[in-house]
Amino acid sequence: MAIGESTRDVSALPLAPKNPLPYRERLRAVREFHTGTDRLRDAGGPVTRVILGPKWLIPPIVMVTSPQGIRDILSLRDGSVDKTSAVSTELRRLLGGNLFVLPHEEWLPRRRTLQPVFTRQRVEQFGGHMAEAAEKVCGTWRDGDEIDLDAQCRMLTLRALGRSVLGLDLDERADAIAEPLRVATSYAVSRALRPLRAPAWLPTPARRRARAAAAAVRELADEILQACRADPDREAPLVQALIAATDPETGKSLSDNEIRDEMIIFLFAGHDTTATTLTYALWALGRHPDLQERVRAEVAELGDRQLTPDDVPRLAFTVRVLQEALRLCPPGPTGTRMATRDVAVGGFRAEAGTMLAFGRMAVQTDASLWDDPLKFDPDRFSPERSAGRGRWQYLPFGGGPRSCIGDHFAMLEATLAVATIIRRADIRSVEDDFPLAAPFTMVAAAPIPARVRLRC
Ligand code: HEM
Repeated sequence: MAIGESTRDVSALPLAPKNPLPYRERLRAVREFHTGTDRLRDAGGPVTRVILGPKWLIPPIVMVTSPQGIRDILSLRDGSVDKTSAVSTELRRLLGGNLFVLPHEEWLPRRRTLQPVFTRQRVEQFGGHMAEAAEKVCGTWRDGDEIDLDAQCRMLTLRALGRSVLGLDLDERADAIAEPLRVATSYAVSRALRPLRAPAWLPTPARRRARAAAAAVRELADEILQACRADPDREAPLVQALIAATDPETGKSLSDNEIRDEMIIFLFAGHDTTATTLTYALWALGRHPDLQERVRAEVAELGDRQLTPDDVPRLAFTVRVLQEALRLCPPGPTGTRMATRDVAVGGFRAEAGTMLAFGRMAVQTDASLWDDPLKFDPDRFSPERSAGRGRWQYLPFGGGPRSCIGDHFAMLEATLAVATIIRRADIRSVEDDFPLAAPFTMVAAAPIPARVRLRC
């Protein structure tokens, strides 16, 4: 099969073997999707069919944890796998039709329009404020303080997003973004993963809360957009770029509703994922003083001025620290698609109407693919040790046409933040564990305490 097409006749392929876990364990494994993927694989192999009820009630799931199987799903470009799963439908119902949830036909022109906004060069225009935001957060620490790395990184990411991207002080509006988005997204995921759901029109208390939360975020996004429309010189580069963006094929611009829906997903995707990556990277450095010293020495070479996007090429080890954090703690530990026709997955046939779920975290920590897979070892991303590594065994930003549009932005932001923080402070993690939860993206399940010693 050529990559990107599903034209091959797959009717001769067998269906994937049924997962043998007892029903309750199967259900739990699907709902605890960040850790459950491993349990489903251990019981049923790297391509396994998980049935949770009759087809008319809940689609069969094919869970995939092999690089080959993930490649088969993600590299299809012809709409034969699509984002029409219950998770996408629920998210769209609440937050609107954004790039993350749109089905193929609507997604294609949207991605064409937005892709040029997120090139490596363009994101450098948004990224300049990351270092400043990190300096400010470090400026609030006192020598010997015990801080919660997770809370600090969330504040930092929100501050950077607000100042540099939206032109708004989100510090004072943090409550208007972070919590409502979490309420809305975790409701959507938890509802989507339930075999029996109340009908969408029934006003349950959870649904009312989720709708109110989504409405609050929409209101804020509208406010920012209208302020930018009224003042074209307002410093809000991403919003201004969305206003100016046009589809290179049709010349069409985005409507205000479309821009607002995209702003909401950027606020969510840009905040939660990057904050978790930073928290995990700093926690890991706080347990490995030798690695932390290498980051410090690398950034010391750049002098004492504020870091800029131009410095990133000279922060190669800091980047590796982040790559390793993203391997062990990918904020999107699993992904899903719906098969719209019968497709081949890892040598098996997945029938149209099957939910294809794939384990990024599972493949990134698979002992048959990685040496000492649970060890935090940034040097595994050195050019020498990366040579020959398969493309589909490391995919924190996904792969194929629907990979993360914000990957350069996120890496730029996180690199400047880690380098700036480690230059200012020595971090010692208090706990040896990093508890995880996955209400939608994967996040720290509890505060991540660390003691800071200021360096200057
Ligand atoms: C460390 C940070 C981040 C991680 C780990 C991450 C991860 C991902 C992954 C795995 C996907 C693919 C989902 C799938 O295959 O179903 C994705 C998609 C997406 N991400 Fe990110 N992301 C990050 C930061 C960002 C940022 C900063 C933005 C925007 C400002 C962003 C916007 C998006 C959007 C819009 C999509 C949907 C793309 C499409 O379907 O065309 N992400 N992200």
